[in-house]
Amino acid sequence: MPGLIPLWVADMDFEAPPKVVHAIRARAEHGIFGYTLEPDSWFDAAAGWLQRRHGWKVRREWMLPSPGVIPSLVFAILGLTEPGDGVIIQPPVYYPFSLRVSANGRRVVENPLRLSGTRWEMDLEGLEKVVDDRTRLLILCSPHNPVCRVWDQASLQGLADFCLRRSIIVVSDEIHSDLVLPGSRHTPFASLSSQAAAQSVTLVSATKSFNLAGLGGSLTLIPDAGIRGRFDAVQHAIAGGPANVFAAAASEAAWRHGEPWLDELLAYVQANMRFLAGFLAENLPQVTMAPQEGTYLAWLDMRALRLSDDQIKARLHGAAGIWLDEGRMFGRGGEGFQRLNVACPRAVLADAAERLVRAFRPS
Ligand SMILES: Cc1ncc(COP(=O)(O)O)c(C=O)c1O
Repeated sequence: MPGLIPLWVADMDFEAPPKVVHAIRARAEHGIFGYTLEPDSWFDAAAGWLQRRHGWKVRREWMLPSPGVIPSLVFAILGLTEPGDGVIIQPPVYYPFSLRVSANGRRVVENPLRLSGTRWEMDLEGLEKVVDDRTRLLILCSPHNPVCRVWDQASLQGLADFCLRRSIIVVSDEIHSDLVLPGSRHTPFASLSSQAAAQSVTLVSATKSFNLAGLGGSLTLIPDAGIRGRFDAVQHAIAGGPANVFAAAASEAAWRHGEPWLDELLAYVQANMRFLAGFLAENLPQVTMAPQEGTYLAWLDMRALRLSDDQIKARLHGAAGIWLDEGRMFGRGGEGFQRLNVACPRAVLADAAERLVRAFRPS
């Protein structure tokens, strides 16, 4: 929307790391852009990254190059469930989850997160109440977009225990796993135990961490050969080959050389998060922020303003002149919240924060 500060979509205002840009240029100068396969060096770079950043040792045969995280989620839904089967999601959560489940003829089974103070938790007891014999899959968002949670080992273990008991496969969307702020630590779901690994599909990508979303491409990791075969059959039936040559060159360079850039980015994002939380606490204490563990997406609780979602939206787009993602889009529990992307220069964030305060401060 023209004239509004756009802080809604989940990408960044920052240029990708210079070594990534260089790798794309070098690939462009090659001049031949025919069909290709990801080279062994791409798989090595991905495995090295997962081991270094997340302490997860993965095997080459688990890894499948995919066109993107959401396409892979659809392959998992189609390959691992039948029409009418139940798929658990935990709202408020990234809205394409429910859209893709229902658009593909499966049932969305909701197990909403619980708010405990300002911190969101998975409702592990709630899971027992929502499942039935045709619930086959659970989509985990880890870290969780939009509530800033980096799931701790105990929560993940509780989830794994439940899913193992009920033979529910966990599709763990870990696209935000590199965006963990200093002080928190990401645990890959499949790294919990060999049993959890054997019932998991993990989706990762360099695109979110290094601002490469326009290039596409992702990596799917499936330790169990049977599950991998069912997934791969659908992927091949629909999407054929791997992502484009630039996506492969860029993600390999990011995984090999991107660590210093990413660490600098995370420090900047954390400083922006702290700035916003402090500014709101001082100037508009009716609006609070969920504790910032992961992602660059602040989750603002605006319920104390006692305005409807429509009123909040009208004021954001009118008096404030900023464009956020509305909490209600993320499903049950998101009403009264807004998601604000802080991966922007401090000056832009400061401008947005001042506009927010001017538009919502009670007179
Ligand atoms: C949780 C989550 N999964 C997936 C995606 C998109 O992945 P892709 O662009 O690879 O389809 C996003 C983008 O914001 C996201 O937040």
